[in-house]
Amino acid sequence: MIIIQHSMKNSKRKKGGSTKMNYLAPSILAADFCELGKEIEIVEKAGVPYLHIDIMDGMFVPSISFGMPVFACVRKYSNLFMDVHMMVEKPERYVEELIELGADGVTIHIEACDCVEETLEKIKELGAKPGIAINPNTPVSEIIPYMELVDMVLVMTVQPGFGGQSFIVECLDKIREVRRIIDKSYPDVKLEIDGGVRLDNLEMNLEAGANVIVTGSAIFKGDIETNVKEFLKRM
Ligand code: DX5
Ligand code: ZN
Repeated sequence: MIIIQHSMKNSKRKKGGSTKMNYLAPSILAADFCELGKEIEIVEKAGVPYLHIDIMDGMFVPSISFGMPVFACVRKYSNLFMDVHMMVEKPERYVEELIELGADGVTIHIEACDCVEETLEKIKELGAKPGIAINPNTPVSEIIPYMELVDMVLVMTVQPGFGGQSFIVECLDKIREVRRIIDKSYPDVKLEIDGGVRLDNLEMNLEAGANVIVTGSAIFKGDIETNVKEFLKRM
């Protein structure tokens, strides 16, 4: 078992004295699936706290990634926090199974779910951390009714469905808007961003207020260990 220690360097002191930890969450969507175990071991040993698991159904998004059998394997293989991102229509159909398999966090898209409140409550009741995700075109105002129920807000910074896309710069304003809401009234809620994050836009995203950083290609393409260390150094 690998013990992950977060140093205080990896946090920012906020006004009012509270601290905000930053978390790196590599998305295995960009990994080499024939070498999946080995690549997860590299990111885990290099010190990442989260693993981001992108589940796609070919309906909510055009692509299909992988499902329960793959997730079950990954869960057994690693002790990292399993941050499951459901890009799936009616995600309420799967939360029970996912949490039984060992998901630590389950994030559902507001655009995909008919019963957002019940599903977030169910995730929590079943012992995992609920998250709510919004696509680039969905206004931030839509998540307000659910802020009390979530552990994390995920602001998509590309259209969901594929890795390796370019970061949508306009999303920075949404990140700032969500950060203001969190800081004002929900200081324990995390702010995750996902899509097109690379070393050259990391700083602006951290400055805008993101504190859970998902990144696929920028970690798994090239030298994985060096990539992780470079990210962690700047967080
Ligand atoms: C996109 C997924 C992302 C994706 C990120 O729909 O939700 O998690 O893997 O990949 P990069 O970092 O390559 O944009
Ligand atoms: Zn994702």
